[in-house]
Amino acid sequence: MSKLWGGRFTKTAEEWVDAFGASIGFDQALVNEDIEGSIAHVTMLGKCGVLPKDEVEQIKNGLQALREKAAMGELEFSVQQEDIHLNLEKHLIDEIGPVGGKLHTGRSRNDQVATDMHLYLRNQTNEIMDGLKKLQQALVTQANEHVETLIPGYTHLQRAQPVSFAHHLLAYFWMLERDYGRLEDSLKRVNVSPLGAGALAGTTFPIDRHYSAELLGFDDIYHNSLDAVSDRDFIVEFLNASSMIMMHLSRLCEELILWSTQEFQFIEMDDSFATGSSIMPQKKNPDMAELIRGKTGRVYGHLFSLLTTLKGLPLAYNKDMQEDKEGMFDTVETVKGSLNIFAGMIETMTVNVDTMEKAVHHDFSNATELADYLATKGMPFRQAHEVVGKLVLVAIQKGVFLLDLPFSDYEDASELFEKDIYEVLNPKTVVARRNSAGGTGFEQVRVSLQKAEQLLANSHKS
Ligand code: ARG
Repeated sequence: MSKLWGGRFTKTAEEWVDAFGASIGFDQALVNEDIEGSIAHVTMLGKCGVLPKDEVEQIKNGLQALREKAAMGELEFSVQQEDIHLNLEKHLIDEIGPVGGKLHTGRSRNDQVATDMHLYLRNQTNEIMDGLKKLQQALVTQANEHVETLIPGYTHLQRAQPVSFAHHLLAYFWMLERDYGRLEDSLKRVNVSPLGAGALAGTTFPIDRHYSAELLGFDDIYHNSLDAVSDRDFIVEFLNASSMIMMHLSRLCEELILWSTQEFQFIEMDDSFATGSSIMPQKKNPDMAELIRGKTGRVYGHLFSLLTTLKGLPLAYNKDMQEDKEGMFDTVETVKGSLNIFAGMIETMTVNVDTMEKAVHHDFSNATELADYLATKGMPFRQAHEVVGKLVLVAIQKGVFLLDLPFSDYEDASELFEKDIYEVLNPKTVVARRNSAGGTGFEQVRVSLQKAEQLLANSHKS
């Protein structure tokens, strides 16, 4: 089979060499974007008088026909034609005859592939933003049910102070909110048209880049042709934003996994998101959470892979850049899939309110409260810390918790203690009183929930 660029060549490469250089195996995922870009390009050529209207119509109809065939799975792609661009051009010529060869006037595969990638990432970024929203919604829905559910809060994975379970869940809402913002911001750089930059230097044809950009819904054009064809920053940014998303998800995965252990028993995963063991009948494994935690690694890998590919590349296009695609496609699939699964896991998990409640009654996480109590009554906090430390020791020696100590122990420790300490030590009071802005006090959590709901309803439009 002859090559579309075969004129200068006296012999053809062997098949296995072609196969090594080809990207059609993966860049066929860009088939719709490539056709969309071509339709805009040829429409622009018609408007600028570079091609006569009837030829433009023929080419557009041909591309439309290819689009339909592709949708039906009737387009065959061959390694001989290397990539999606050449495959489609060949198909177009087969479909409408030699006039199909005019499509590539004033264009190069270099600005063409860059255009495809911009279109692709614009679509996918929007879909991922929707996925983030869906997970945020699931978190908000669960949080709504659990404003007054208490859970131990940890530092160093040691019980620290009790918190509202809603507060814990909403911490992830805000992480995802930043992820959303990062993607939204990246769209400014994704939604820019490289089309018409040519191979690297622009073109002699009187084209109108602003017009083709407008047809494709781009907000602006690249203002330097060399930059237009060699920029892959927008993909690096996407991989970076995706890495952050996966990092956030994997942290919550870790918590879900811990919480569903027999040691914690704070939550139970729904059967639809857990699996059993082939040998141990009692087991219910949080596989999906583990898998998402695991998949985080490959997304980081894709980020590093592309940064490394781009490092030291001279201007403008280099074949190295063909390596930008597989990691990007894989990241899109991984992030979309993970967000989807995650929303389902959060929506369907059972929260063991009683176990959590029991947990906060069986620890010393209300000790800070006691120190604050003394400090409020005028004792320097450092001294109060010491007094309470000693009381904790007394309780440990008696094998009880602070709420179980008789008042005489408190009287011995400081005359500032009054009987109201038993109310102050109640975990519910402990949480409720942390009413500083952004704190876990129930009032604050409700404010935060309301903000989250507003964000989901208003500012996030899709
Ligand atoms: N398949 C190529 C890629 O993905 C398309 C651009 C090829 N350009 C070229 N001058 N060989 O990067």
